[in-house]
This record gives sequence, structure tokens and C-alpha cells, in this order.
Amino acid sequence: MEIARRRFDTLIIGAGGGGLRAALQLSSAEAHVAVVSKVFPTRSHTVAAQGGVNAALANVLPDNWHWHMFDSVKGSDYLGDQDAIEYMCRTAPQAVYELEHFGVPFTRLDDGRIYQRAFGGQSQNFGGDQAARTCAAADRTGHAILQSLYQQNIRARTHFFDEYFAIDLIRDNEGYLLGAVVMNIANSELLLIEARATLLATGGAGQLYRTNTNALINTGDGMAMTLRAGIPLQDMEFFQFHPTGIAGKGMLISEAVRGEGGYLVNAEGERFMERYAPGAKDLASRDIVSRAIATEVREGRGCGKGKDHVLLRVDHLGAEKVHQRLPAICDMVRTFLGFDPAESPIPVSPTTHYTMGGIPTNRYGQVVAPEQQGAEEPVPGLYAAGECACVSVHGANRLGGNSLLDILVFGRAAANHIVDYLRENRYHKPCPKEGTEPAQERLARWEQKGDGESVDSLRTELARVMEEDCGVFRREEVLQEGLDKVMALAARLDDAHLTDHSKVFNTARIEALELENLMDIALATVTSALQRKESRGAHSRIDYPERDDVHWLRHSLYHRDTRSVDYKPVRTKPITVESFPPKERIY
Ligand code: FUM
Repeated sequence: MEIARRRFDTLIIGAGGGGLRAALQLSSAEAHVAVVSKVFPTRSHTVAAQGGVNAALANVLPDNWHWHMFDSVKGSDYLGDQDAIEYMCRTAPQAVYELEHFGVPFTRLDDGRIYQRAFGGQSQNFGGDQAARTCAAADRTGHAILQSLYQQNIRARTHFFDEYFAIDLIRDNEGYLLGAVVMNIANSELLLIEARATLLATGGAGQLYRTNTNALINTGDGMAMTLRAGIPLQDMEFFQFHPTGIAGKGMLISEAVRGEGGYLVNAEGERFMERYAPGAKDLASRDIVSRAIATEVREGRGCGKGKDHVLLRVDHLGAEKVHQRLPAICDMVRTFLGFDPAESPIPVSPTTHYTMGGIPTNRYGQVVAPEQQGAEEPVPGLYAAGECACVSVHGANRLGGNSLLDILVFGRAAANHIVDYLRENRYHKPCPKEGTEPAQERLARWEQKGDGESVDSLRTELARVMEEDCGVFRREEVLQEGLDKVMALAARLDDAHLTDHSKVFNTARIEALELENLMDIALATVTSALQRKESRGAHSRIDYPERDDVHWLRHSLYHRDTRSVDYKPVRTKPITVESFPPKERIY
């Protein structure tokens, strides 16, 4: 069936900070830009980012971008690509000043400069004293950034397709990206958006896990579309577990709480982080703090009836500071737990937070894929930025405050590269009628009622399997069991039906398509985790407890068609400075 077509210079899928920063750059360069978002743009997950964005402004303590770079490389457990990390850290101050000019209402110091707080893994002078590098708008930084970027895009006349769901990318025989098939969620109408360049900015896949900090929309759609387009995903074994989610519920309690002086205690009232990270203590990097909490719980020093969490204390800081610096946290704790954190400690435990792996890109945002001879080549016309991408600035463990930075820096970098690409590729390539058929078939499958389980129950089971079998601590037998279970779930998905077939709303169709996406991401994650026989960053193997640079200082690439993993080297050479060689990671 032929479907309606629209043509733009650039198609951006996703309207979080990465998509909007790129769109603004392109619209300001007079490109004709379409942004497709499955939710109204200001509901994108960037809105939930709390603590802030890193940049070495040195407003509170001495700082420079080279120290920021060192911390990010060390934080990544040396898996991050050092050219991209250098670029990100050097560009960070400019990215933040741009935000200031776009109208982001940053919290201010008494002298009017942007307020900066301490966050985990930050240091002065290459591993010395704690730094304060995270620029904050109270604890609602993502919200402030997203609103400002959206308003700037309206002014720049970016064209928005709000509440449209992207089903699949379209590539021609030579590998060029031609655009995507999207569905208007309100009326099911399909639309082919043809574009000379397509940027994926679809965010992460935290919904893969039962307990997570992510919005319901974070189902790895862009990553799964990329896999279906024949491109592998990189480093999918690395999921970040944020140390402080509300226990049992998962909602984020920002690292800003510890940055402002909060600390963790176990059931004995002990500040246990002193044992795990004698220098940085509660502001060690997230993988270390999450493992420490999990270890306290496993060894019986957890709090509460189930002894399954620890406590985060801020009651010593004084109500005025807590209410002023952490207003959103206070609201959330009052709403979900019914008390004021300035008076009582918050029960917390690790919760899935961030997808470090994703669509492989270079530092210009170009998606890169292996070619016949093993070398990598850009996929013509395809770009990715932000959490769906793996550039890789976070390696095996992201530092808090670097994700907002990543979306701003690489959203802008991708847009700048697209401007050049558009100049060199002046005409749309023809999209044959049959190009849209796979997407249409994918949707049509859900019009038939399978005789198996509902989509809903399969999604619940998938999230439980991921949490139990591919969590903070991992080992061979459990991962293998997890992989078998996910494969069985994927097979059961073929016979599944929409949650309520008697009155199908498009939301049910979307949930089915999202589950297909999650299933592919689950297979990528568990398969890659099973293969990586070492512990690095957030990937912690009980059976291989050491980092093994000789065999495993390399990125994984998961291929969907063969369900296999191969590897490529880490880019250890920065652009202008000396490399930071791998060292023991002590905080
Ligand atoms: O803890 C936080 O506020 C989260 C920040 C981040 O993930 O960068």
C-alpha cells in the first residue's frame, strides 16, 4: 500500500535534549528540519535529569577541561574513546554558555556566575581533591534545558511531528539512509518522511529493567531500528545502575544529594562508603557506590524489614539548604514516601539508570559500521546522538553530569556535520514504493490476534528476567539462564496479542512495537554480557572479578542477524593531548 510522503532536508527522531540541540543548530542554518517525537517534546526524558551538566568553568573550585577529561577516562574504566572525551570536555564550557544564552535559568552564586556542585568521580589536578564541576538549575536542570531548547526551536521554525512513533528506517541498496516510516499515534496513519540525513536521538532503554529511573518511553526504539537496518550495537553489556533510587520503586534521588553533603549509612548506622572508597567516599563513581550498596545488602547490613536497602541522610544539612538546593527531591520524597528528607533519611537502592552502549558513532555523530575488510565506514546519511548513541564518551561507566553534556555537545556536532553533508548531497535519493513494506508488515502483524500471552505480561516478565539475571553482579550460569529465558520470551512474542483486543487503542499497538524493540535490546545486552569475561565499570562478573586490559580493552559489537558479538579497538588517542593509559581505578 502506498503511503503519504513528506520531504525534509533532515529528519530527527527524538525530541529530548540531543534531538532539540541538533534541530536548533540545523534550523538556525536554514535547513528544513522535521523532529518526530512519540510524546510532546517537553515530556521527553531529558526533563527528568536532575543534578546538572558538567563543564570545567571553575566557578566554585579550581578546574580545567583536562582534569575533566582525566576523570571521564578513568570513570569510563578506560573503555571510553579518548578523542571523543577530549572533544566533549573541551567543548563543555561553550555548551553551557550557549544554554545560558538560550535562557536556561541556572542557579547563581552570589556574584552572579553559574552555581556548580560536586558530583561523583570529579577531581582536581588528575585525581586530587574533589572538584565542583556540575552546573545546576536547582535539581531540575534537565527540565530547564528542555524547555529552553524547545522554545528556541519554535522560534527557529523547526517542524514538529508530535506524538508520532517511528517504526523503521529505510536504507537503499547502496546503504544510504532515505528516511523513516512513522505512525501518527492519534489516527494510525502512516507517513514516509524522506530526508537526505536522519539523526537518531531516541534516548536509552532503561525500561528493559523492572526497577529503573527512566520514563516509560525509554524502550530503545532507535537502537532497535538500527539493528533491524543491519547495523550492530556497541557495548550493550554496559548498563548503569544509579546507586540511589527510591528503594523498591526506582525513582531517581539525584547524586546532587550527595554532592550537597548527603551520605549513605547501613543498618548499623555506619558510613560504609569509607571502606569502599576511602578518598571520594560517597562521591566515588556510580559503579563503585552501587556495588558497595549491593554488597552491604548481600552481607546482611541492609535496612528495613527486608534488609534490602540503605539510607541516604541529609538531615544534618539543615532544612533551609535542603529545601533550597533540592526542591524537586523534597517534593518527590514527600509525594512517594510521605516525609521531608530534611528530617528523615531516604531509603535507597541501586536502580537501572543509563544505557552506556548504543549505536556506534564517531565524534561527528556519524553512525559507523564495519565493512568487509573489518574497517569502519560511516553509514551515509545516518547520524545518532545522546543516550541512544555510543560515541563512546562513557565507556564502561558514565560519570554523573556527563549525560546532559553528551547530548548538547554531540547533538550540536552531529548537526554541524549534517550541514556539510547536505551541501555535498544536494538531492533526495528516490525511495522505492516497496521500501516502506517491512515497516507496514511489522505493524500489520499486530492486527492479527495471536493465541499466546498478552504483550503486557511478556514485558513484565522480560523486565524481571533482566533484573534477576543481568543486574549489578553477573556470572556465567545466571547470564546463560537469562539468555535462554529471553530467547524463549522472544519466541513467545511471535504468538502474543495486544493487551485488550476488543478495543484496541494505538497505545496498545505502540506497546507491542516497543516490546519488539526491547526484546532485541535484551538479546544484545545479555549476549554481550555473557561474552565479556572480565569486570569493567558497570559490568561486574563475579566469576571474572578483575579488569583484563590484555584481552578486553575493546568495544563489543552485537549483530542481530547472527546474534553474535565481535570486537573493535578503543580509540585511545586523544586529539591534542597525551593518552591516559589504563591504571588501577582507586577513589
Ligand atoms: O543523579 C543525577 O542527578 C543524575 C545525573 C546524571 O545521570 O547525569
